[in-house]
Amino acid sequence: MRALTRTGSSKNLTLDTAHPKPTSNGFPNDYIVQVKATALTRGELTWPEPLESEIPIPGYDLAGVVVAVPRTPGPKAYQVGDEVYGLTNPYKQGNARAFAAVDERELALKPKNLNWEEAAAVPLSALSAYQGLFVHGKLDAPGKGSNEGKRVLVTAASGGVGVWAVQLAHQAGVNVVGTCGPSNVDFVKDLGADTVLDYTKTDLLSWINEDPENRNFDVVLDCIGGQTLTDSWKCARKDGNIVSVAEPADSKKPSDGVAEGVQGVWFIVEANRGQLEQITNWIEQGKCRSQVDQAFELEDWEEAFERLEGGHARGKIVLKM
Ligand SMILES: NC(=O)c1ccc[n+]([C@@H]2O[C@H](COP(=O)([O-])OP(=O)(O)OC[C@H]3O[C@@H](n4cnc5c(N)ncnc54)[C@H](OP(=O)(O)O)[C@@H]3O)[C@@H](O)[C@H]2O)c1
Repeated sequence: MRALTRTGSSKNLTLDTAHPKPTSNGFPNDYIVQVKATALTRGELTWPEPLESEIPIPGYDLAGVVVAVPRTPGPKAYQVGDEVYGLTNPYKQGNARAFAAVDERELALKPKNLNWEEAAAVPLSALSAYQGLFVHGKLDAPGKGSNEGKRVLVTAASGGVGVWAVQLAHQAGVNVVGTCGPSNVDFVKDLGADTVLDYTKTDLLSWINEDPENRNFDVVLDCIGGQTLTDSWKCARKDGNIVSVAEPADSKKPSDGVAEGVQGVWFIVEANRGQLEQITNWIEQGKCRSQVDQAFELEDWEEAFERLEGGHARGKIVLKM
């Protein structure tokens, strides 16, 4: 089968046209899914590699069709022919391949109103935003309580995670401020942000310092890292949470200017079938939408990675299988 493979620990990728196909014999506990599309995440080629015995393959999202169910006895959540999507464990091979072996806990039925590319763009980003806001950020998930008076800052609000963080926080009744460049301001507003700050015009800390009591945040979900993460610490109100996906939050904590009780957390997104099913419902109800920046044919993977690593994708970069 076709697969995009990585050579050892290098970032060098090759399109292998004779890669071994996973089968139910080799993976008796897994579903075999014919992959229709996968999505890429900026920086993923620097993430830990899978098991030594496996050749690394990028793309931790997938959308596709079940072609074989696990051989192990017991009831099965999905049947042959089901259209599914999901986030697979980053310590395994990814999904830029024609067929993938996937654990039941990593899958949900694909939203009926999304095509393959739109579906593949959802799981990793939406679950990162969900877990960042409602697990690590300790906000109440939509329908699970009130977030009255709560404020969240989402940096890179037009990126993969940001698009979802804005939509989910808005739906949860949180006052949302997002940052992005000038060409994305209207887009982020349309996702549900109450205030959008264009980073080419507004310095975050100066903006906060104009009215600190009213402009500081209960939660900052930082999707950038570096200096933005350092600044994020100074944007939180007493007992607030700095949630980071790009790099460990504590490594960028400034030595002063941080309010009392502010905590930093960095996490790696985990597959979660229940959360993904909830996200599926919101998509099907029209409460949230998927955002594909661009979908590339597999053979155009170099162009896809170039766009991805440029850092200006609006939503996700997708590879069509
Ligand atoms: N820990 C985890 O489990 C996890 C999960 C997901 C992602 N991540 C990591 O999180 C990071 C973000 O990934 P992502 O997929 O959400 O997005 P992304 O691809 O990094 O974001 C691109 C977006 O960032 C915006 N942007 C660039 N510079 C900005 C700045 N200075 N201020 C505000 N916005 C800016 C761009 O908007 P403009 O074009 O308008 O500039 C663009 O829309 C990556 O490092 C990724 O590896 C980690």
